[in-house]
Formats: sequence, structure tokens, C-alpha cells
Amino acid sequence: MKLLYAPASPFVRKVLVFIKELGLEDKVELIKVSSTVIDPNAELAASNPVAKIPTLVMDNGKGLFDSRVITAYLDTLASSPSFYPAAGEARWDVLRMEATADGLMDAAVNNRYERGLRPADKQWDAWSDGQVKKVHGALKALDSEAAAFGDRIDAGIVGAACACGYLDFRYPDIGWRESYPALGAWYAKFSERKSMQETQPPS
Ligand code: BEZ
Repeated sequence: MKLLYAPASPFVRKVLVFIKELGLEDKVELIKVSSTVIDPNAELAASNPVAKIPTLVMDNGKGLFDSRVITAYLDTLASSPSFYPAAGEARWDVLRMEATADGLMDAAVNNRYERGLRPADKQWDAWSDGQVKKVHGALKALDSEAAAFGDRIDAGIVGAACACGYLDFRYPDIGWRESYPALGAWYAKFSERKSMQETQPPS
């Protein structure tokens, strides 16, 4: 399989952490691509009609996307453990948490594009504030559950860790640890894992 990736993306990081934690490193070739909405990468567009990273090209040549579909697929390839509970309330709790983390990352990435790439005279402050509000909404929800995370690892946990990591990477001044201390305490420990250390975004 091939993973088309860019190291700064928190969604890519989620997939990379899955690959490492599930012991699939030998099965996935990493191919770094540079792609933007304005100038999409041709190899990426050939496997994903909306040309977004991450995209996994399976051994049968078909592309898989987005990150949640890729992680669900990777989970089926590992003999153990599984990062998605099979059924019941536990399954929906993990999926909800994964969606919360993905929502945080979506809002943070969207706002990064708005603030980092759009010309200053075209930026829309209210839209940007709305994205930051979503980030805080997700942080509050994750923080309210963080005391119970313990040493657990699943798709929600990996998503939450990559979301926190992205805030440290692109929003170093947001000071999320002060407002969300339980999440900060959990993340301090989880981010020591080898899979997290080896997937840190570029400095
Ligand atoms: C970033 O540079 O923050 C970034 C790059 C690719 C995807 C998402 C975010």
C-alpha cells in the first residue's frame, strides 16, 4: 500500500500513528506529496477525486480516503489490537470522540488557511472567530472526559492526541492547557509514546 501524505497535516498524523501502533509499518510505503486546492498533485488526484491528503492507495490500486476511512481500514489489517470497539455504547463513544477530534482539526486547519494563506484584506474575522469557537467547543468536550482516558488507546484517543499536537504546532499562543487542564495532563503522558514522538510535525 502507499500513503500519500504531507507531514504537517494532523489527519495524516492520525493515520501515521495508527500505522505505527498497529505494527503496519512494513506494509505501507510513504509518499510525500505537495498539493493545494489551486494546484492539486496529479498522483493524488488520480486516486482521490477530491485530491486531499491523506489518501491510501491499496494494493488493488484503489484509493481510500478520508482519514477516518483509512484508519478504519488499517484497523481491519491488524491482528490486534483493534482501535474501534465492535459494537454497543463503547463503539459510539469512540466514534463520537474521533468525530470531535476531527472537527477540532478541521476548524483549526480551515482557520490556518484563512489566516496564513488568504490575503489580509480578504480575511473574514467573524468566520475565523467561529472556527476558533469550534476548537474551544471540542477542547471543552474532550477535557470533560479526559480524566477517564487513563492508558486507553483507540481511534478517539489517537484523534484527540493529534488534535492537541496540531494546536501546539500551529496555535502555540492559544494556551489550551490552562483552560483544559485534564486534557493537558493526559496529553503530556500520551505524547511520550514512540508513535507520537516519531510523527511530530516538521519544525
Ligand atoms: C498545515 O501546514 O498546517 C497543514 C498542511 C497540510 C494539511 C493540513 C494542515
